[in-house]
Amino acid sequence: MFYRAVRTDKCVGCNFCWNYVCQSKECVGCKACYLACPNEAVELVEVEKREEISIVVDGEKFSVPAGITVKKALEILGYKFAKYPEKNAIFSPCEVGGCWSCAVEVNGILKQSCVTPVKEGMVINTNVKRLLRAVHGFSGHPVGGVGTPWWIKGRRYIEAACFACGCNLRCPQCQNWTTTYCGKEEPMSPREAALRMTSLRKSIGVDRMAISGGECTLNREWLVSYVKELKRLNRDEKARIHVDTNATVLTEDYIDELVEAGMTDIGIDIKALKLETFEKITGVGGELGERYLKTSWKALKRALNYDIFVGVGIPYNRELISLEEVRKIGEKIAEMSDEVQICALDYRAEFKSKIKRPSFEEMFKVWKVLKDVGLKNVIAQTPVGYINPHGEIHP
Ligand code: FES
Repeated sequence: MFYRAVRTDKCVGCNFCWNYVCQSKECVGCKACYLACPNEAVELVEVEKREEISIVVDGEKFSVPAGITVKKALEILGYKFAKYPEKNAIFSPCEVGGCWSCAVEVNGILKQSCVTPVKEGMVINTNVKRLLRAVHGFSGHPVGGVGTPWWIKGRRYIEAACFACGCNLRCPQCQNWTTTYCGKEEPMSPREAALRMTSLRKSIGVDRMAISGGECTLNREWLVSYVKELKRLNRDEKARIHVDTNATVLTEDYIDELVEAGMTDIGIDIKALKLETFEKITGVGGELGERYLKTSWKALKRALNYDIFVGVGIPYNRELISLEEVRKIGEKIAEMSDEVQICALDYRAEFKSKIKRPSFEEMFKVWKVLKDVGLKNVIAQTPVGYINPHGEIHP
C-alpha cells in the first residue's frame, strides 16, 4: 500500500513538520510527519501505485514505483527491515530520519532510506557502514539524567550533554519530542560529535559527558565509535562517559561493547513490568513491545555486573502505571542490587499527552514505596524539586 500525508483542520500551523521533519518536496508517504505532529493533525490517505522508474540496487537493475521512499522500494525488492536488530535485516527503528541506522548509499552518499525519495536512475548500495547520526543540543546541564549521581546534581553545570535524534518508542508523553522526531538535523560522524563534546567539556569545565536522546543506542556502530573517540580525546582519569537510554535494543553484547569502548555511567529507563503498561507508556506493544521490555530488564542486569555507575529511571503517573506495579519493579531491582540509584520520574503532559502531572504527595508516596522495598538510593522528581535518598528536598 502507498500513502500520502494530508494536513487536517486540527493543524495549528506550528510548522514543526516542515521545519524539522519533512525531507521531501513531494510527499513520498514516509509517515514521519504523521508520527511527529504534536496535534495529531496529519492523516494518511491511500494512493494508487505510481509510474515505474528504474534504479540500481547492489549492482542489479530494477523497476519500482515512483514517489515512494528508498526503504519502501527496497522492501518491494525483498530487502528486509526490522525494528529490533536482526541478522540479514536493515535496522530501521525510528522511521523519521533521525537515527541513520537504516542509511544506505544513494549515488555514493549516505542517506536515511526511511525518508529519502526514490528517483529515476538512482544507484543504491545497501552494504555500508552507518557512521552518521543526527545529534544536536550540545550544552551544559545542571541536573543531568537518570545515570547522573544524585549528589552532584546542583545549580551549576555538572555535565556536558548532547541528544541523538530519533527514537524507537512512540511515547505520547515524550519529554524530548523535538529531538525524537527531528530527522532534518545535519548528521555528524562519531569523530565530529566527540570533538564537539570534548571542546564543550573544556569550555564549561566539567568531567562528565552525556549522550541522551531521542534514543542514543539505536545506531550501534555510530555510538560505539563515538564512545571510543571520546575516550581517546579525554584520557584523564576524571573523564566520565555517560549514556542515557531506554535500553530496549541494548542487548548484553552491546553493553559489553560500550563498556569496553569506555562508557563509565549508564542511565536505564525501565518503563514497566507488565507489557500492558509498557504499551500504554511507550505506544509499542505486541511481540515487539515484549522484546523491547525484556531487553531493557536484561540490560539492567548486565550493566550491574560491571564496575560502572548505574542509574535506573522508573516512570510514575497514576494514569499510566499503578503504585503496585512500581513496587514490584522496585522489588525486582532490589533483588539485583539494593545500592543502585533509582530515579522516580514524574511523567506529565508533553507532546500528544494530556495527563496531569503527579503532585508532590503522589511522588513522595512513590519514593516511599521504593524505599520500603529495600532500595537505598531512591530519588524522586516532584514539581518542587527532587527528593533525595535521605528524604530531603532539593529545589
Ligand atoms: S530508521 Fe531511518 S533514520 Fe532511523
